[in-house]
Amino acid sequence: MEREERLPEVSRRVREVPPYLFAEIDRARDEAIARGIDVISLGIGDPDQPTPAFVIEAMAEEIAKAENHTYSPYWGTDRFRQAVAGYMKGRFGVELDPGKEVIALIGAKEGLGHLPLALLDPGDLALIPDPAYPVYENASRYAGAATISVPLLEENGFLPDLSALPESVLRTAKVIFLNYPNNPTGALAPLSFLEELVELAHRFGFYIVSDNPYAEIYFDEEHPPHSILEVEGAREVAIELHSFSKTFNMTGWRIGWACGAERLVAALGSIKSNMDSGPFKAIQHAVVRALSHPQCGDFIRSQRELMRKRLSLLKEGLSRLGLRWCEPGGAFYLWVHLPEGYQSSIKFCSEVLNRAGLVFGPGRGYGVYGEGYFRICLTTPEEKIAQAMERLAGFLAS
Ligand SMILES: Cc1ncc(COP(=O)(O)O)c(C=O)c1O
Repeated sequence: MEREERLPEVSRRVREVPPYLFAEIDRARDEAIARGIDVISLGIGDPDQPTPAFVIEAMAEEIAKAENHTYSPYWGTDRFRQAVAGYMKGRFGVELDPGKEVIALIGAKEGLGHLPLALLDPGDLALIPDPAYPVYENASRYAGAATISVPLLEENGFLPDLSALPESVLRTAKVIFLNYPNNPTGALAPLSFLEELVELAHRFGFYIVSDNPYAEIYFDEEHPPHSILEVEGAREVAIELHSFSKTFNMTGWRIGWACGAERLVAALGSIKSNMDSGPFKAIQHAVVRALSHPQCGDFIRSQRELMRKRLSLLKEGLSRLGLRWCEPGGAFYLWVHLPEGYQSSIKFCSEVLNRAGLVFGPGRGYGVYGEGYFRICLTTPEEKIAQAMERLAGFLAS
């Protein structure tokens, strides 16, 4: 017998959960580059702009301090948790106890990966929006949970239709995931929707995981996105995840936080303290200093302005091509209907990559209800967006 045949399989969870969408998009892009195709990537929401100098300078000082080189407290430093509680109060008017209701994360994705282990037992039911960031579904399945898709339809503003959820599902569900500003559709959730959901969570007994890494990326300065924790009663049933990744162009640094219901934060802390150590202290101190830096507000506004400019350039290009999109309120994505004649977003995105060197996110990759759309990221410089629109025009004409 061959040696390898005697070895056991890797775990069922690894075999059964599909490969990570964005790793697959990266792979297809790299293969196209290796075949000599000149690729413009509008496929992944990774800011192209650098982390602001005031964060880098703070980091340079903090990294030199020996006291920052040791393991950090599992829940994050006191300074970090207090600064985050201060931000939540200033930005959303939400009062949090930094000692019990805030925990540092190695990015929001880490929190999303660990939360299902903290909240769900095998067989428990999680409600997963569709289309969505794939981590909600896959991390819930890693925890052995059963999942039901909650469709996000264009005619409902990409909000779950709460009245369409059967009472039996609401009674059985233990957790619902939520993400506004939404990836991939760009939709925002009005406060009235969040209020209705919190009321249902109390009435039927389930928890809400609100993934909110795009809270500072929005297009109408007069109407910033909400935190679910603004809603009365949310602090008992909801946990919200935030991130420095998108706000400060810090995706590689890996820093975010979870906050909200003490019970849920404690459960996450229990899992995390067994699985990881807190984020690098120098990074925590650097972002604490960033939040109170005099240039902080202007920097964040300038990033929104940049995204607004790119969005209007992209919309001009798409409208010249006769393509239809869903008007985004926030995040940095445009959710676009497939051109006429295409039924499969995967086929469209693969043809556009191979024949025009453009990387888009196929709607189907975000769920069954993502079919019929593709996602374009605004994290690409304007000249590249203009070039991409020319290539798309050539592709559609051919
Ligand atoms: C909806 C959503 N949640 C979470 C994340 C991950 O954020 P972080 O870099 O903080 O892990 C992303 C990143 O693309 C995202 O789109």
